[in-house]
Amino acid sequence: MNEGEQLCDAARNGDAEKVKSLIDSGADVSHFDAEGLTPLMHAAKQGHASILAILLSAGAPWNALSPSNLSAGDFAMEAGHQDAYELLLNAGIQAELVLGTIARKENKNADSGHDYLEDRVSFSEDKIMDADSKAVMMAWEKPLMEAHAKAVCSGGGHILNIGFGMGLVDTAIQQYAPATHTIVEAHPEVYERMLRTGWGKKENVKIVFGRWQDVLSQLETYDGIFFDTYGEYYEDLREFHQHLLALLKPGGIYSFFNGLCGGNAFFHVVYCHLVSLELENLGYSTQLIPLPVKDCLGEEVWEGVKHRYWQLDTYYLPVCQSLEENE
Ligand SMILES: C[S@@+](CC[C@H](N)C(=O)[O-])C[C@H]1O[C@@H](n2cnc3c(N)ncnc32)[C@H](O)[C@@H]1O
Repeated sequence: MNEGEQLCDAARNGDAEKVKSLIDSGADVSHFDAEGLTPLMHAAKQGHASILAILLSAGAPWNALSPSNLSAGDFAMEAGHQDAYELLLNAGIQAELVLGTIARKENKNADSGHDYLEDRVSFSEDKIMDADSKAVMMAWEKPLMEAHAKAVCSGGGHILNIGFGMGLVDTAIQQYAPATHTIVEAHPEVYERMLRTGWGKKENVKIVFGRWQDVLSQLETYDGIFFDTYGEYYEDLREFHQHLLALLKPGGIYSFFNGLCGGNAFFHVVYCHLVSLELENLGYSTQLIPLPVKDCLGEEVWEGVKHRYWQLDTYYLPVCQSLEENE
């Protein structure tokens, strides 16, 4: 048995001395065994929190995935090992807070040769697809969009929505008859469709065509703001959050589509914590309201869609408000 396999065994057995000595002699902490599991996953499955701590401090990756797309945190969560779960959660948050920014920026730069906004999109009754058969927006999100609209319109007044898509959230916002309703949309075909379907003629609606990054100077201050773009990254959401202070009125409510890492339950929890922490540093509290989505999501929903951007049973709708307002 090589040292990596021995490390997996020792981690599974909770043998701290063996784990330490194998690490000292150079065993690979990110080794995948024949089942595709790492030492961290083995320790997490058994709830060996002390072994997890040793492995993490030796550099074991918190975010490695098994062949069934589960991380150590998922294993701890599934087995109900609370201590192990919390240790992994903190490790994930710390790693993303410190290193994530660098890694995410590098990914973004590597990918940025291709721009969704320059490609054709196709519209059907239940979705908008990009040129790569990935869904830009899907009708199953309608109840979520209605809940977002209810949250950001709860104080009435002036509402801003970034990203029109299928117009689901904007249709719901209209039902609250806001004083003004500003919509920023950057895709030429989506914009053209908005005009064709009469959005340009609604009395309280102002459409701003362009990327939100490029049209900030045309925006004012709002009582409610919703953010839901496509083809962007977590870094873009963070960048938008830097502008909240200038865009959101005191007492206003901000919400965003919380699809962060929607393919993995544990990564999603890590990112929910991360975004809440980052918003808190900017002076906002975040309440995450659980909404069950299992029933909206039958297998047939994803037919012909290349990437299942959401695979979890519960959606956590963020409601953010200035911390000062809550004091
Ligand atoms: C997921 S859809 C929005 C769905 C919408 N919330 C709804 O209820 O139908 C994302 C939209 O954001 C637009 N978009 C992407 N990047 C943008 C950007 N930088 N600025 C403004 N809009 C953008 C896309 O063209 C797309 O229409």
